[in-house]
Amino acid sequence: MLGLLSPLERLLLDEAGPVASALVLDAPALAAHLAGEGASVAAFCDLADDQASLATPVEVVEPGAFGEFERALVRLPKSLDALDEYAGWAVQAGAEHLLVGARVKDLTRQATTVLERHFRTVRASLGRDKARVLHASDPIAHPAGWRPGWPRTRTITLPDGGDLVVTHHGSTFASGRLDAATRLLLEQLPGLLEGRSPSRVLDWGSGAGILATWLAGRLPDAEVIAVDSSWAAAASTAATASSAGVRVSTHWVDGVRWLSEMPDSSLDLVVSNPPFHQGVAKDSGPTLQMFAEGARALAPGGRLALVHNSHLPWARVLCDLRVGQVSRLAQDRQFTVTSLTR
Ligand SMILES: C[S@@+](CC[C@H](N)C(=O)[O-])C[C@H]1O[C@@H](n2cnc3c(N)ncnc32)[C@H](O)[C@@H]1O
Repeated sequence: MLGLLSPLERLLLDEAGPVASALVLDAPALAAHLAGEGASVAAFCDLADDQASLATPVEVVEPGAFGEFERALVRLPKSLDALDEYAGWAVQAGAEHLLVGARVKDLTRQATTVLERHFRTVRASLGRDKARVLHASDPIAHPAGWRPGWPRTRTITLPDGGDLVVTHHGSTFASGRLDAATRLLLEQLPGLLEGRSPSRVLDWGSGAGILATWLAGRLPDAEVIAVDSSWAAAASTAATASSAGVRVSTHWVDGVRWLSEMPDSSLDLVVSNPPFHQGVAKDSGPTLQMFAEGARALAPGGRLALVHNSHLPWARVLCDLRVGQVSRLAQDRQFTVTSLTR
């Protein structure tokens, strides 16, 4: 069992000492190990596949349903806002001691500052193998009824002049802002819909749900589906759509697997601002698989429209699929919108 732990999880385990009860975030093998040793463990992972890997005796929980735990053990999330959200959950769960494991190169002084909003004492361990643990203890007492300040909302102005209230969690892409790439794709959507009434539409990797919500507002009779592998994103999409009063069927799931299970010719439009990174590593694998599965699932005449950094060879990759016509819909100094029509 110990062998399955990542080096970071092993470091967290060693620095935690004896654990009777813990809330474990984004460290599935550590949760399984501690529960196997007899600790009372509840765990949550932002990534759908990691969450699906959790099993009894670990109590699998989702935010808002955490019980009381003496400690919280956390793998440093990718953004400081997500760390703030996680630290709030730890305090809400009554944790006296929060341990955050991180690679030294990902640790900044600001991570300590974020934890100091929630705990009086924060210190970094010496760690080992280029990794360290931030130990936060002596939680700051919050007033009765206090809740972590997440999710948050931000009002953005869309290219068509309309306002949209965007809900976002700590690790949601672009923190609820309208990203420049998303904007360029949004600008092309009215043209893409002209003379068409797609009945089944997919926003692949929906983030805060800006594209899906816009599409659902424009296509009230269509089934608009949003998928994202991150809980923070899927929860944000659902909330953004709901506060806009539109119907978006949202799935917290690995989008490649979800798409691979869609029958041939079952989608009329797929839009995406696909990921370029998985965590901190550049990994185009899921995006390339999404192209192949998305093209297969498109109905004849259906379209896949994506925005990407202009240096990426995605137009050529789509041409190589040989399933339809590829064209460039727009380009600015940094991004290109490419479409495939089946
Ligand atoms: C560049 S962001 C775009 C977000 C949103 N569509 C926008 O434009 O604001 C890419 C999104 O893809 C999601 N993602 C990454 N890998 C994924 C996968 N395998 N399946 C589904 N979603 C994924 C990320 O969580 C992230 O929300």
